[in-house]
Amino acid sequence: MIGRVHSIGRSFYELLRRPLARAFESKQNPLNQLGALTIFFCWIVLVSGIWLLIFFRTSVSAAFESVEYLTHEQWYLGGVMRSLHRYASDALIITILLHVIKEFIFNRYRLNRWFNWVTGIPLVWMIFALGITGYWLVWDQLAQYVAISTAELLDALPIFTDSMAGNFMSDELLSNRFFTLMAFIHLIGLPIFLVFGIWLHVFRLNGPRINPPRRLMAGALLCMLLLSVIYPAISHDKANLAMAPQALRFDWFYLHVYPLIQRWSPGWVWILLVGISVVLTIAPWAPPAKKTTVAVVDLDNCNGCKRCADDCPFGAIEMIPRTDGTNYTHQASVTDDLCISCGICVGACPTATPFRSKSALVPGIDLPNRSAASIRQDIVDQAETPSDDPRVMIFGCRDDRQTEIVRKAGGNVVTVRCMAHLQPSYLDFVLSRGHADGVMLLGCENGNCDYRLGADWTEARIARVRDPWLRKRTDTTKIAMGWLAPWANIANPVKRVGAFRDALRVTEGDT
Ligand code: HEM
Ligand code: SF4
Ligand code: SF4
Repeated sequence: MIGRVHSIGRSFYELLRRPLARAFESKQNPLNQLGALTIFFCWIVLVSGIWLLIFFRTSVSAAFESVEYLTHEQWYLGGVMRSLHRYASDALIITILLHVIKEFIFNRYRLNRWFNWVTGIPLVWMIFALGITGYWLVWDQLAQYVAISTAELLDALPIFTDSMAGNFMSDELLSNRFFTLMAFIHLIGLPIFLVFGIWLHVFRLNGPRINPPRRLMAGALLCMLLLSVIYPAISHDKANLAMAPQALRFDWFYLHVYPLIQRWSPGWVWILLVGISVVLTIAPWAPPAKKTTVAVVDLDNCNGCKRCADDCPFGAIEMIPRTDGTNYTHQASVTDDLCISCGICVGACPTATPFRSKSALVPGIDLPNRSAASIRQDIVDQAETPSDDPRVMIFGCRDDRQTEIVRKAGGNVVTVRCMAHLQPSYLDFVLSRGHADGVMLLGCENGNCDYRLGADWTEARIARVRDPWLRKRTDTTKIAMGWLAPWANIANPVKRVGAFRDALRVTEGDT
């Protein structure tokens, strides 16, 4: 059932992915940088917020005028900063929403990822609280509406002895102290919690992408700036508690539940919000995912080099003091709960080389259900006899749809858990032992790898900038990397294999 929901979600996602994939290369594609883009928008909000803070007056009587001054008198800087503050806050709601949807439909929220998923939920509450208190501080008619509706919402909770809504009966009753408290929550309290929350959200991941590529950052900032100049954020009339606010320009990004407070009741709105949060919190276990077989260390073959720990995307490997009395100081140790069986550690291990004799192909670390030896066996079994036409051996990701498409089209495919599961010496093995004339790696594109870092590590190892790297003798023109969007239902991979075969034909014709 849940698999069906994921698959329907992926079909809709495809409608958005395709046009963006045409416009951007995979690393620059905003859909592949959603978490990092959210953090980038937080930076814009922070920097523009600091400028606003310099001029903002935290009293009921002066707040509105200070914002008006920034918007109109200092429009060239203060006004632009105010608009940037607004639009970056709106943009991050979109990126968070897409980030959550993407992690969900690609099933990247269960097993060890439950931690990232669950710690993401309070971040959403904090972001909304920041947006709502932000609208409040302008103290215009929208702020008046937000303040009164929020007070009604909070009054429905049995935590305050005095009615909060009572503060908004008249201008005289609204104290500066209360207003300063709101400013403190918005400007200092919540941002501190948010920074801590984001750190908690990503600290368990190895090398989390917290900065988008520079070109994407520049493009996003430029769009925000243009929007700020063309369509600057402005206030409504000043709040007047003696009158009900009229004809408001609503910010649907932050205030979409507000109309429900009047239409339903504050109690039902709480039930809705808490209900959604609870459903999201239990989602990683509904139903529980099948635990995968974890990576296993073989001490006889582990020299404590630490490469597996450096490359594991989920921080599942710890280097601990040696326990077997050998001269090595450390050994790898897998934390079972964090391992999701991607095999990337095997691809990082210098001992996982297929050139070792058959009996000895037991690397320092291996996956029991897809061992290094079984991959070598598949390569040998699938090797075609030499012919006039170049033979291409294709390596595909475990459960990737394109792998199936290529196999159905007659391609010679060996599956691995992730492209970075394949230690580079396997490519050398295929080519130098004549098992094929060319190797095609059909992995998931950068930023879209099921195991986060597979494409990064593979590219770096083949480019000979990351250990264990491809031997110098291996001719890289015989290796093609055909990174693809996972699950996308396209005929592209077959064409790419065909194009690579053509290229090999030309090279072989030249030699
Ligand atoms: C302020 C809001 C958020 C920010 C700034 C943020 C940022 C990030 C970043 C930077 C990563 C690491 C990406 C990588 O390197 O692979 C990440 C991962 C993740 N996030 Fe968020 N996130 C936010 C909200 C959420 C929410 C609301 C959820 C879900 C309820 C969520 C679920 C996840 C999951 C499951 C991962 C792990 C992805 C993986 O292992 O492939 N995030 N997030
Ligand atoms: S990469 Fe291999 S040899 Fe190095 S520490 Fe890990 S298991 Fe041991
Ligand atoms: S299989 Fe993947 S998750 Fe498990 S220890 Fe190795 S690199 Fe880490």
